[in-house]
Amino acid sequence: MRALTLDSVPSTPAVTEVETPRPEAGELLVRVAAASLNGLDAETAAGTFLEVEKHRFPLVLGKDFVGTVDALGAGVRGFQVGDAVFGVVTKPFEGAGSLAEYGTVSADYGVTHVPAGLAAADAAALGLAGTAAWDCVTAVAVRPGETLLISGASGGVGTFAVQYAAARGAKLIATARPGAESEFITSLTDADAELRLIDYTDDVAWQVREAAPKGVDTALHLAGDGLLLASLLRAGGRIASTLGLGPDNVGDQSVTAHAVVARPNRATLDRLAADVASGTIRVPVTATYPLDRAVEAFEAFTAGAMGKIVVTMV
Ligand SMILES: NC(=O)c1ccc[n+]([C@@H]2O[C@H](COP(=O)([O-])OP(=O)(O)OC[C@H]3O[C@@H](n4cnc5c(N)ncnc54)[C@H](OP(=O)(O)O)[C@@H]3O)[C@@H](O)[C@H]2O)c1
Repeated sequence: MRALTLDSVPSTPAVTEVETPRPEAGELLVRVAAASLNGLDAETAAGTFLEVEKHRFPLVLGKDFVGTVDALGAGVRGFQVGDAVFGVVTKPFEGAGSLAEYGTVSADYGVTHVPAGLAAADAAALGLAGTAAWDCVTAVAVRPGETLLISGASGGVGTFAVQYAAARGAKLIATARPGAESEFITSLTDADAELRLIDYTDDVAWQVREAAPKGVDTALHLAGDGLLLASLLRAGGRIASTLGLGPDNVGDQSVTAHAVVARPNRATLDRLAADVASGTIRVPVTATYPLDRAVEAFEAFTAGAMGKIVVTMV
């Protein structure tokens, strides 16, 4: 099969021929229709996780997928060949990802059926970023009228987090470059949402203190300097980080820090799918490329594309 692969890290990926995986006991073989790029793919290629995770080469990139069940491993229940499914590859190593014509996933975790009303292109870009955003917003438990500072709002996780936090009635302070990025974030919220955009290429602390002189109630660390963000919380404030910032890093005992590891269990995937199908949240797909042009997609993503980029296999 063809896949977007790395032969080593750090390196840039290429579309190559690799062996089609076989489902082990408890796994589904999925014929992937589309997958999306995530910050984690760019970081994997950059070698960020080499010291902390096992890597198998040639390493197939990709986390999210939508596709059709092609074969069942022994003992699988709840899925049939031909079922439309989406989710997130969650292997205990890097290398068997979803940016490929086929992928294997555990039938018990990280996969669910595509419900009516969820378009394939949306499902392809929903799993990981949507789950991480949901888990972060849930971790800080932002309440109506509270301020939420989102650093990294223009990325995949950020664009879902903006929408979930706005739906909870939070007053948003979101980082973006001025111009197209700021306009893009504004387009994700209703006209009556309270949204203040700050330029992360300028003095973030000054801009946040101006917007929230007593400190922000909550913050999401999806990019940038987590300790700086934590210092902008009011006493008793809460911060969630997808970049590992936790209680041990934040010396200030008066704030609560959650190092979030996204958990794409079936309940969360079903919730995300239902929220998209009902129009509560929108999947911010900004570009779609065929697998043949996946290297171009990867370059566009690492060059700072907004929202989600989808790669189609068929
Ligand atoms: N722990 C977990 O389970 C988990 C799950 C998902 C993601 N993550 C991590 O969470 C992070 C975000 O993921 P993602 O998929 O959303 O990545 P992404 O799509 O690449 O988004 C990152 C965004 O951050 C912006 N940015 C870069 N530097 C910034 C700064 N100094 N201040 C504010 N914003 C800045 C980028 O804007 P520009 O386009 O202007 O550069 C980009 O829009 C990644 O590090 C990823 O590895 C962790």
